[in-house]
Amino acid sequence: MTTAKIKLRITTCVKPNRLILKYLKCIVSDVKTYSDVNYEVIERKKLTIKNLFEEDTTPVMVIQQTGVVLYTSVENKIFYHENTTRVKYKAYITGNHVPPLIELIQDDSINTDIIIDATTGMANDLILMALTMENSIFYAFEDNFYIHFAIKWGVHFYFNVLEKNKIDISRIHFIYGSVVNHMGILNQADVIYLDPMYEETVVTSNIASLVNVVTHDIESDRKLLNTIFEHFKGKVILRAHFKSSLIRDYQFTMNVRKQTKTHYGYRYL
Ligand SMILES: C[S@@+](CC[C@H](N)C(=O)[O-])C[C@H]1O[C@@H](n2cnc3c(N)ncnc32)[C@H](O)[C@@H]1O
Repeated sequence: MTTAKIKLRITTCVKPNRLILKYLKCIVSDVKTYSDVNYEVIERKKLTIKNLFEEDTTPVMVIQQTGVVLYTSVENKIFYHENTTRVKYKAYITGNHVPPLIELIQDDSINTDIIIDATTGMANDLILMALTMENSIFYAFEDNFYIHFAIKWGVHFYFNVLEKNKIDISRIHFIYGSVVNHMGILNQADVIYLDPMYEETVVTSNIASLVNVVTHDIESDRKLLNTIFEHFKGKVILRAHFKSSLIRDYQFTMNVRKQTKTHYGYRYL
C-alpha cells in the first residue's frame, strides 16, 4: 500500500526583499529533506490568499515580513505567535510568578540538560521553557506536518529576525513525528513534557487553528504514554484537563489550579 504524500505550496509576500528570498531558499532546501512531502514553489505575483485557493486547495506557506504563515485554507492559518509568553516570562523574571510548568521543570533532583517536548503544537510552552531554562537543549516533537513545519520556521523567523537573539534557536531541535519513534532521544533525556490535545473540548484562541487541523485521538495519547512508561526513566510532566482519564490511569500527581480547567501533573519513572 502506498500512502498519499503530504502536499505543500510555498510562496512569498507580494514584494519579497532579499531577506524573504533568503528564507525561501532555506525553507525549500529544508522541505526537500522530508521524503513524504511533495512541494511546489509558486510565484506570488499580485495574487491574494483567496486567489491562491481558487483553483488549488493545497496548503500554502507564505514567507512575509511579519513572519512565516501556513494557510491550510483561506480562513485557517498556522503561525508562531508569542501569545501570553512575554507576559508570563516578564512575571517570572521580576519574581512575581513562576509558571506552573516551569515550577515542575526546575527540579534539583533531575538533570535538565535535555528536555523533550513530546507535543509541541504552537510552541508556547516550548518557548517559555527555552526562555527560562537557558542551558537546556530541547527536542520538540510534533506529528502533524503542517503544524511542525509552520512552527519550526515561524519560531526561526521570529527569533532570528523579529526578536533577534532573545533565544539561541540552535538549542531547539524541531522533529516531525512522535518521540515513540525516536528511542535514542527518549533514552538521553531525564525530563519529558506532554500536552496532548484536550479530551474535553477547550477551544481558546491559541489552539483554535490547531483544533481545525488536528483530529484528536485518545488512543494515540495512550500509545505515547505507554511507550514512555515502558522505556523512559526520569520525570514526566503532563498538562491535562482536570477530568482527563490519563491522570487517573497513569497515576499522575496533579498540582490543582483553582482558576483553570487544565492542570499540570508529574510522575517520576
Ligand atoms: C494541545 S497541543 C500542544 C500545545 C503546546 N503545549 C503549546 O504550548 O502550544 C497538542 C499538539 O500535540 C500534537 N501531538 C499529539 N500527539 C502527538 C504525538 N504522539 N507525537 C507528536 N505530536 C503529537 C498535536 O498534533 C498538537 O499539535
